[in-house]
Amino acid sequence: MADTILVTGGAGYIGSHIVVELAQAGYAPVVLDNFANSSPAVLPRLEALAGRRVPCIEGDVRDVAALRRVFHDHAIAAVIHCAGLKAVGESGERPLAYYDVNVAGSLALAEAMGEAGVTTLVFSSSATVYGQPERLPVAEDAPVAPNSVYGRTKLVVEDFLRDLAPAGPNWRIAILRYFNPAGAHPSGTIGEAPLGRPNNLVPLLCRIAGGEFAELSIFGRDWPTPDGTGVRDYLHVQDLAEGHIAAMKYLARTPGVATFNLGVGRGFSVLEVVAAFERACGRTIPRQFAPRRAGDIACVYADPARANASFGWRAARGLDSICADAWRWQAGGGKY
Ligand code: NAD
Ligand code: UFG
Repeated sequence: MADTILVTGGAGYIGSHIVVELAQAGYAPVVLDNFANSSPAVLPRLEALAGRRVPCIEGDVRDVAALRRVFHDHAIAAVIHCAGLKAVGESGERPLAYYDVNVAGSLALAEAMGEAGVTTLVFSSSATVYGQPERLPVAEDAPVAPNSVYGRTKLVVEDFLRDLAPAGPNWRIAILRYFNPAGAHPSGTIGEAPLGRPNNLVPLLCRIAGGEFAELSIFGRDWPTPDGTGVRDYLHVQDLAEGHIAAMKYLARTPGVATFNLGVGRGFSVLEVVAAFERACGRTIPRQFAPRRAGDIACVYADPARANASFGWRAARGLDSICADAWRWQAGGGKY
């Protein structure tokens, strides 16, 4: 029988792509989500792509009683923990909410997992824990210095998981530090559906090309980068989803806790992303230069060698495919 995998936040952007990938790899995904930043309308699309029923429990990851019921009702073999709040700017305004959902939610999950004897966990962390790295590409042993409340909540959970695993028994935990996930499922039927004006570059380019917003403000033209605009490691969400499955399989043969970068290993500037997106959609993106955004850094890209050496993962898709798939999703409506 297929292993059942619980995906918290499985209705969200990244979780939904993981759910489809799990089903395609022969697993039986189960979703727990409170729809704080997603819509139940994603579920039939997930089931269509997955080719199987995907049970979804509407519930809060902070609710230990609800989690106990999930572990009672389903024979969960492992958990992929994507549920959380992720807006850097908002995290400074609502620190209590961010610590509560991200930190207390992870504690509640670990408690319920321990009780149920489910000890395999893949955790969604972020490259934001590095802040502006001194050396690039950034490897997992680089110093951490998150510069937002959001980033600090991720680091607190990472530290907790690194303390939890050695206390046993049999914890198997992969902490995955995502760089910049972008793009959509190649079917164009699931993707990123932010409410209001998107904060992130690729979803904003989608909405500008789609006519919803007039122009892009490029935050800074005087960064110490080749063209003066910010450089990031954009990772196709399908590659990211595959990385979770590879990490989970690795945990089946490796107890303990380990941290992995998931990134491509090369950076692109804002101007390079805009040019790639224009090629993908065949439209011009109106843009203007604006002051730097508070909390931004100049440049970050991953050293993804550890994930490759440990579980054979490597990003297979490039920036053009990120832009083409994001645009296909947008052209089909871009929302649920
Ligand atoms: P998302 O907001 O689309 O998905 C998160 C999901 O969690 C949503 O469906 C939301 O409804 C759900 N959720 C929120 N609070 C919950 C709660 N208390 N109980 C149950 N469900 C809850 O975000 P995403 O981009 O898919 O991110 C998934 C994870 O990856 C997050 O933990 C995020 O911090 C992390 N991450 C994302 C990025 C990125 O750029 N998207 C980068 C690095 C790390
Ligand atoms: N940018 C603009 N204009 C915009 C939006 C973004 O110029 O309207 C620029 C940014 O300044 C940056 C680049 O585009 O140089 C990428 O910005 P994003 O907001 O898409 O991504 P960030 O790297 O700032 O942040 C992302 C996630 C965070 C996570 C971080 C980890 O949104 O949650 O990666 O590195 F913490």
